[in-house]
Amino acid sequence: MSSDTLSVTDNRTGKRYEIPIEDGAIRATELRKIKVAEDDFGLMSYDPAFLNTASCRSAITYIDGDAGILRYRGYPIEQLAERSTYLETAYLLLFGELPTAAELAAWVDEITHHTFVHESMKRLMEAFRYDAHPMGMLVSAVAALSTFYPEASHVDDPENRLLQAKRLIAKVPTIAAWAYRHSRGLPYVYPDNELGFTGNFLSMMFRMAEPRYLADPVLERALEVLFILHADHEQNCSANAMRSIGSSRVDPYSALAGAAAALYGPLHGGANEAVLRMLAEIGDVGRVPEYVERVKAGELRLMGFGHRVYKSYDPRARIIKQTADAVFEVTGRNPLLDVALELEKIALEDEYFVSRKLYPNVDFYSGLIYQALGLPVAMFPVMFAIPRTAGWLAQWLEGIADPEQKIARPRQVYTGAPEREYVPLERRSRDLVPR
Ligand code: CMC
Repeated sequence: MSSDTLSVTDNRTGKRYEIPIEDGAIRATELRKIKVAEDDFGLMSYDPAFLNTASCRSAITYIDGDAGILRYRGYPIEQLAERSTYLETAYLLLFGELPTAAELAAWVDEITHHTFVHESMKRLMEAFRYDAHPMGMLVSAVAALSTFYPEASHVDDPENRLLQAKRLIAKVPTIAAWAYRHSRGLPYVYPDNELGFTGNFLSMMFRMAEPRYLADPVLERALEVLFILHADHEQNCSANAMRSIGSSRVDPYSALAGAAAALYGPLHGGANEAVLRMLAEIGDVGRVPEYVERVKAGELRLMGFGHRVYKSYDPRARIIKQTADAVFEVTGRNPLLDVALELEKIALEDEYFVSRKLYPNVDFYSGLIYQALGLPVAMFPVMFAIPRTAGWLAQWLEGIADPEQKIARPRQVYTGAPEREYVPLERRSRDLVPR
């Protein structure tokens, strides 16, 4: 008869242990019972970069990397991208259910009325150098927001938590747009509460002298789709940062600034920028085969290809590719699209990429769209951070309310010097005190 346990024999002692298996996992703390002596600390698991460690239970996002499946709260990403809006998706991520018509109207109204930021925030942003990276500005400005809402530190109060979540979802686009305006030396544009979430964002980005900026509806919808696709992706580097920082019970502005900092890195939210640089470097369809050969020779990586979790086509990349077609109908075709299409075609047929299960990821086509919208590459990670705010907050809210969670505090395998006597300065030589 089968039982949901794992039998382990410790060959050091010959002892046998039964470890319960729950939801396809064992609790790492069960290993602590495995000891060679009574005063032994017990066995640990060693898992740098969390390759095979579940750090939480989560009911938010489901990914099956082999099958190329992504669902938010059970809803397939394809259906949300086709039929939902970003704010509705944000509600779904935070509350677990799609809103009723009345709930959605109230939610949209509340987010809309939290889009303004304190005037001091404007002065804070103005203090940055003219060439400040907009992502550095966003990280700093979000952290600064905590000083405007000291009550945000009461993270044990669910109502208070929700209020801060609404503020963050509403204010991050304002800060993001102002970071862009700052980099262009343009006056900051205040939110327009008559516009929808993405329409207002585009207005804060691009409005000049016109009394009201109305974005092309195709571009507004394309941005909505991109925002839906980027809203959450379970326990990625930045979500893990959000949960980890949040586990210290700090306010969500400080935790979200940390999550945004994690996103800033080129292996995470910065990859779309690298794709654009790569496509520009290739420059011409005729040079694609030569570039692919260099990748196969191990000289370079094909940016926008491969994923730690997806070992088939990233479902988001498929939707973004279709969205790109719609955008280019309005903006004109990005000449680098042909290079991207040829690169994808050759790579998908090549043994090197097929055998390693390397497929286009979310970043392969998104940069082309951002560029077509007129955005500089430095804004690409910012464009990722705006919608991911909802995901970070959903992860934070779930973590805070989870009775199993404590402060995140991993163990280590110590590899340093054993205990030794302090060496007085006059007796130190390099032989005695190794670097
Ligand atoms: N181009 C060429 N070869 C690659 C690539 C690539 N983009 N990605 C992986 N490989 C090869 C790698 O050399 C290795 O080959 P071998 O077995 O011969 O040594 C094999 O595939 C496995 O690679 P890995 O480095 O063990 O895979 P990983 O899961 O640690 O890395 C990754 C995942 C996304 C960091 C990596 O695929 C990569 O660097 N891709 C390019 C950067 C990129 O597009 N990042 C965006 C990720 S999606 C958005 C996000 O998470 O924010």
